[in-house]
Formats: sequence, C-alpha cells, structure tokens
Amino acid sequence: MEFSDVVKKRRSIRAYKPDPVEPEKIAVMLEAARQAPSWRNLQCWRFMVITSEEKRKAITTTFSPHNPGVKALLQAPVIIVLCANPAESENWYNKDFYMLDAGLAMEHLVLAATDQGLATCWQGSFDEEKMHEVLGVPEEFRLIALTPLGYPAQERDPRPRKAMEQIAFGEQWGEPWKG
Ligand SMILES: Cc1cc2nc3c(=O)[nH]c(=O)nc-3n(C[C@H](O)[C@H](O)[C@H](O)COP(=O)(O)O)c2cc1C
Repeated sequence: MEFSDVVKKRRSIRAYKPDPVEPEKIAVMLEAARQAPSWRNLQCWRFMVITSEEKRKAITTTFSPHNPGVKALLQAPVIIVLCANPAESENWYNKDFYMLDAGLAMEHLVLAATDQGLATCWQGSFDEEKMHEVLGVPEEFRLIALTPLGYPAQERDPRPRKAMEQIAFGEQWGEPWKG
C-alpha cells in the first residue's frame, strides 16, 4: 500500500473477526517498531504479544467496563502491549522522552498492521498497577498502551479532525501556513 493510503486506512477498530493473525505479519509489525527513532537511540520500548484467552480476559479487568474499546480486547485474537523503561530514555528541559519514544514505536507497529490488512485500536486508559500484576511486567517498566490486533469486522468512516489552519502555522503563531 502507498504510505498515504496506509495513513488514510488506519482507524481505531473496535470489532474483530476471530480469525488468527499470521505470526509473519506480527513479525513485520515488530520489526517496524524496532526501526522507530528514539532519544539517543536508547530504544526504551518493549512489546508483549498476548494471545491466550485467559490473559486477554485478565487484561480487560484493568479497564473500566465503560471504555468503548474493552469488547475488542476479547474479540481480537491478539493484544499487543507497549511497555517502556524511563531509565532507558531521558528527561531534558522537563520533557520525558520515553513517552515519545514508545509512542513512535507503537505507531510504526500500528501502521505496519494497517499496511497488511490488519486492524488495531490504541488503548491507554487502564489501571497500570493492576496491569503490572496481570502481565508480570517488572516494576521499572511503565505500561503505556496496548492494542487489540486482528482482522476488522467493521468499516469505520474517518473521525473528524481539526481544520489545517487551526493546527499548521507559518512564521507567525496563529497565522495559517499557506504553502
Ligand atoms: C494514546 C491513546 C489512547 C487511547 N485510548 C483509548 C482507549 O482507552 N479506548 C478506546 O476505545 N480508544 C482509545 N484511543 C483511540 C482514540 O479514541 C482514537 O484514536 C480517536 O478517537 C481517533 O479515531 P481514529 O483512531 O479512528 O482516527 C486512544 C488513542 C490514543 C492515541
């Protein structure tokens, strides 16, 4: 797929088919994440690939049942969890780069999924302490986000975005970039 088509095609998908995901496709996604840029190339990220129903069920208990993404975590055959060690990144001028590093790697992974016809949905609002217990992740690692992974059982229209002139300025703050 053309890069611009991948960007357009990626949507947060919350309904999945039960069909398994080919390990080769997951490997392509993990490699895309591995190639992401990071602060001083420290690569603070780690990923967990979860397929067991028992673990997927346990993961849902760390979310509010009102979270719109929870059902997808049971439907999708795979959950990929994004972890990051702040000690493998740095804080400069009051900016914690580990969040940025981890987010970049995860988005590489998500776009590689879309490129291969797979669906994902970033999910971040879970109880991190509970998730540590469920997954047995060492304390020094933050649990940043996760995504269900599988074949989509829904098509979604793009969600609205802010207008370009609201977000892209030229020399003068607030003055739309005109190209
Ligand atoms: C950091 C982050 C955390 C998110 N957490 C959740 C979540 O907990 N549950 C959920 O259903 N969607 C979650 N989303 C998905 C957003 O709601 C979604 O990206 C946004 O509405 C735009 O829709 P789109 O991804 O289809 O373009 C999250 C997205 C990001 C980037």
